[in-house]
Amino acid sequence: MQDTGLPTRPELRVTQVDPDDREALRAWAVPSRTSFLESAPTEDSLDERQRMVQGHRLTAVHDTVAGEDRVVATLRTFDSELTVPGAGPVDVDAVSTATVLPTHRRRGLLSRMLTADLERARAAGHALAVLIAAEAPIYGRFGFGAATRSTSLVLDHARVAFRPDAPAATGSLEFVPAGRTDELAAVHDAARRRRPGGLLRDAAWWEAAGRRGEGRWLGPRGHVVLHRDEDGTPDGYAAYDVSDESVGRVPNGTVHLRDLTATTPSAYRALWEFLASIDLVRVTRASDRPVDELLPHLLLDPRAVQTGPVDDFVWLRVLDVPGALAARRYLGCGTLVLRVEDPLGLAGATVRLHVEAQRCGADGWVCPEVTTTDDAPDVVLPVAELGSVLLGGTSPVALQRAGRIDATPAAAQALATLMATPEQPWCPTWF
Ligand SMILES: CC(C)(COP(=O)(O)OP(=O)(O)OC[C@H]1O[C@@H](n2cnc3c(N)ncnc32)[C@H](O)[C@@H]1OP(=O)(O)O)[C@@H](O)C(=O)NCCC(=O)NCCS
Repeated sequence: MQDTGLPTRPELRVTQVDPDDREALRAWAVPSRTSFLESAPTEDSLDERQRMVQGHRLTAVHDTVAGEDRVVATLRTFDSELTVPGAGPVDVDAVSTATVLPTHRRRGLLSRMLTADLERARAAGHALAVLIAAEAPIYGRFGFGAATRSTSLVLDHARVAFRPDAPAATGSLEFVPAGRTDELAAVHDAARRRRPGGLLRDAAWWEAAGRRGEGRWLGPRGHVVLHRDEDGTPDGYAAYDVSDESVGRVPNGTVHLRDLTATTPSAYRALWEFLASIDLVRVTRASDRPVDELLPHLLLDPRAVQTGPVDDFVWLRVLDVPGALAARRYLGCGTLVLRVEDPLGLAGATVRLHVEAQRCGADGWVCPEVTTTDDAPDVVLPVAELGSVLLGGTSPVALQRAGRIDATPAAAQALATLMATPEQPWCPTWF
């Protein structure tokens, strides 16, 4: 029998669920929804789930004690793409729906399901795995580090006035009916390929987003506004819900911005200006926004935008150290020997990272040389910390000061120079 690394107690067995097997999918969905404090699956939610998980790997752990067969733990993983600095998208193993019923928690089921999947992903050639952590203390032990951060913001419409030197809002705006997502998908795809941290949204994602209703991307009062440049090419969109509170007879409505993506500063300005000008609305509230949002820089009163809290979003797990370091490009230059330690024994390696300014491409990003070596390391870091710094979203200097990487201050600064990116990594996509 193949050793799956999964439970060996005779009453526990592991299956891979076929998304087209409706009853197996239902049995799988029950504990995952229970663990996430959601109601039992409805036929609609199962339909939706069935479409979304086509091609995904669904693991179920069954407990057959007392003659009954119940799924008590789940894991879903799928192949996706993550944008790395300077080089565009790379293939990643995306991990989701990690749940263990409260009756079976803290017996090692998550550890065994996740470790088995990371071993599989590494053997399949993935250099990286990603997930969104429900709670921050869970995944460091599995070698994941917080790699992107997001924030919420509140925009006070009364204080919005654009600076005269802000990019002009040229082009046009139009409402997009529910179900028409092709142009939105094209805009998002162009944007996510450019910015570190961006994640692929596949056809099933957009198909689900096209249906509006409670619990969906947009609710029943949702709208999507598409921006086109002067040639008519889509270059931005804003997707939002509205609520129509009032104080007495004074309108006090709110725009709840779910997604705003633009590939040009002009479209970006036009979309925010549009939101801030909707009648009967006083504020726009947004979450999952980049921590280096451009909007305050466009306004005469940048305090019209109040941001926070900032939270981690994508957690990154390096499965192949030379592969991960070579997958991205660098703006700084230098040479460092890094020893990466992996408590799970999957990816530990000592490598020389050499970035030479002369190899600079036309866009300023430099291809590195990454070689394994026996030389003494300049920096010793756990694999989770490498995941944190790889996209440029966490400073190696801070990690060195916090005692999480072993290096002199000068070596930590040299690593920070290599890893730095002009934009903070950002992912607006839940998965
Ligand atoms: C989080 C969850 C999947 C953990 O499953 P589990 O089978 O209990 O985890 P394990 O027994 O394999 O735990 C492995 C280690 O992680 C620790 N751990 C697990 N969940 C933790 C949490 N939420 N906070 C802190 N530590 C946690 C365990 O204490 C254990 O530590 P140890 O090795 O030092 O003993 C499960 O509790 C759950 O389903 N929670 C609700 C849904 C959820 O948050 N899912 C995560 C989605 S990202």
